Amino acid sequence: MTQRIVRGRILTFRDDPRLAGPGAWRLIDDGAAAIADGRIAAVGEAREIIAAAPGVAVDDHSGRLVLPGLIDAHIHYPQTRVIGSYGAQLLDWLNKYTFVEEQKFADPAHSASVARFFLDELFRQGTTTACVYGTVHPASVDAFFAEAERRGARMIAGKALMDRNAPAGLTDTAQSGYDETQALIGRWRGRGRLDYAITPRFAVTSTEAQLEAAGALAREHRDAYVQTHLSENFAEIALVKQLFPSAKTYLEVYARHGLLGPRSIFGHCLHLEQSEVAALAESDSIAAFCPTSNLFLGSGLFDKQRLDAAGVRVALATDVGGGTSYSMLATAAEGYKVLQMSGQSWPAAQIFYQMTLGNARALSLADRIGSIAPGREADLVVLDAHATPAMAHRMESHEGDLEEELFVLITMGDDRAVAQTYVAGRAVKGA
Ligand code: GUN
Ligand code: ZN
Repeated sequence: MTQRIVRGRILTFRDDPRLAGPGAWRLIDDGAAAIADGRIAAVGEAREIIAAAPGVAVDDHSGRLVLPGLIDAHIHYPQTRVIGSYGAQLLDWLNKYTFVEEQKFADPAHSASVARFFLDELFRQGTTTACVYGTVHPASVDAFFAEAERRGARMIAGKALMDRNAPAGLTDTAQSGYDETQALIGRWRGRGRLDYAITPRFAVTSTEAQLEAAGALAREHRDAYVQTHLSENFAEIALVKQLFPSAKTYLEVYARHGLLGPRSIFGHCLHLEQSEVAALAESDSIAAFCPTSNLFLGSGLFDKQRLDAAGVRVALATDVGGGTSYSMLATAAEGYKVLQMSGQSWPAAQIFYQMTLGNARALSLADRIGSIAPGREADLVVLDAHATPAMAHRMESHEGDLEEELFVLITMGDDRAVAQTYVAGRAVKGA
């Protein structure tokens, strides 16, 4: 039984416009989605959807775009008070700001309060699913999952595994990290809309023994995700070479413990050797493009064309708090500019595909989220390309041109352009 109808200009992707052209998306100008039990029951012309469900409440967003909820493939929830920290590159930034802040998550009440803020903020920005790092403290992940569950959101998260090169308040051991991860997986994996990511933070903060334990976890839980960082910063890469002298490349440190695969998400991937690109492609691993973070920390420019050409799966991500915006729209704008710097183009339709179905595919979730179709979970975002005077002014000469509108949303849009967000069919922006 339909419980709610969302009416507007429904836009959903069937495929990547880079490969499939304009046939890759479907726009229904006066469209509607019928929602029942948190899922899309039907989608089509508004008049038909409304006629088929008499008496059902209609949320009328006529004139605005209704898209699948945006997906963020890499973000750190304990870094909400680290975002925008001045003047450091990766390793100093971690030591000076991040590792100080993350120690506060030993306190479950602090974790719970930040988790509430964080999810409010994601929803305000139209993000409905994210791949999230906790801290080393299992309670940080319990707090996050509990809050995500309460809100009915589809979220992936994991406890950071770190057994060296960090303050004592922020380290586990190979054994305790393994045991705590097993327990968290037992508690949360597959519960409602939640899934788990085994999270060795990066090679610098894990011993060989801990990476081995992470590999064992990945083998024991083949459908769980793996998330980590790879080849972000030159000093980091030099340190990894020093810490793992027998590894030929940074990626090999992870590969020899079985940490590559179709559910493994590698943040950054900026300074890769050709053999690393080939290994990412071969293993079906995912490279997360984190443009605001890469610029803010002075890390480097992502080479999407090179990875696309090699057949590496790419996702888009904010990487807050190295990243400087929770908004996937603002993140995409920086991504566009980064690619411009190396003469690469990224048309608006491809970018919107990436933030929705593309990221859903990268997370192996395309059968559940990322498109507006019967049976999919009802996570939606309503976008208004006229949200600010400057946007409305810019749009005046381009009404009716979808690709212009999408590009304005990316280049000028942020939370102000998000008119509403739905999670499992419930309106959650400002809720
Ligand atoms: N590498 C290891 N940890 C982090 C982190 O928290 N943020 C970023 N950007 N890179 C990392
Ligand atoms: Zn990160």
